[in-house]
Amino acid sequence: MNKRVTVNTLMEMKQRANKITMLTAYDYITSSLLDELGIDVILVGDSLGMVILGHETTLPVTMEEMLHHTKAVARAAKRSMVVGDMPFMSYQISVEEALYNAGRFLKEAGVQAIKLEGGEEICPVVFKMVKVGIPVMGHLGVTPQSVHQMGGYAVQGREEQAAKKMIADAKVLEEAGAFAIVLEKIPSELAKKITQTIRVPTIGIGAGPHCDGQVLVTQDLLGMFEKFIPQFVKQYAKLSNDIRSAISSYIKEVKAGEFPGEEHSF
Ligand code: KIV
Repeated sequence: MNKRVTVNTLMEMKQRANKITMLTAYDYITSSLLDELGIDVILVGDSLGMVILGHETTLPVTMEEMLHHTKAVARAAKRSMVVGDMPFMSYQISVEEALYNAGRFLKEAGVQAIKLEGGEEICPVVFKMVKVGIPVMGHLGVTPQSVHQMGGYAVQGREEQAAKKMIADAKVLEEAGAFAIVLEKIPSELAKKITQTIRVPTIGIGAGPHCDGQVLVTQDLLGMFEKFIPQFVKQYAKLSNDIRSAISSYIKEVKAGEFPGEEHSF
């Protein structure tokens, strides 16, 4: 069996300009496939709330829902690093509560790291987690848990001041001990600047080609999530259509008495 991807592996990959691949999973089957295919990092994103649970935003997702799905993902992943996404209000109230909840991801769900959204304001939390041995992935740019504060999901960091602030946030996250930072929906040139400025890897989603790695929501990549398709998504398949066709055939054959056939019967 290949050795588990660790924070050191990701750091070495950045140094060797070896691109990091990350995808989301929320269940055992998807996680098994991603692990088998050699994805470096599997993120159990709080996008769970929208993609799997049907919420309008990621805000309603609870710790219990995240842990439930993360356990299934972690059971399947033997080589990939599994990162648990901390849901809204599980790390913002106090450092103590944040530590307790992050600890649950490691102790109960079996992840190797957690992710949380935000810059300078969450650095005390990041610092403390790293101090007690919990690897932390940061997340800047569009931070979906702040959708109401941002007034939507528009590209972040277009203005000079906002870009400067994001570079500063990336630096302080690195100083606090974050081992990687997700950059979501920001201009490519800004992502390039951040990637060149910090030593830890950047992982982009809608942040152009210069990041040290890329992440997408797996259901977006597979063409399964049709509610909206962000511009930064490339659909490598149209699985929704395949599912429609397969289920329609099943319905037709059952109604016509064609399934089950001799070969499926005892
Ligand atoms: O929740 C999620 O899936 C994420 C990724 C899109 C980075 O945060």
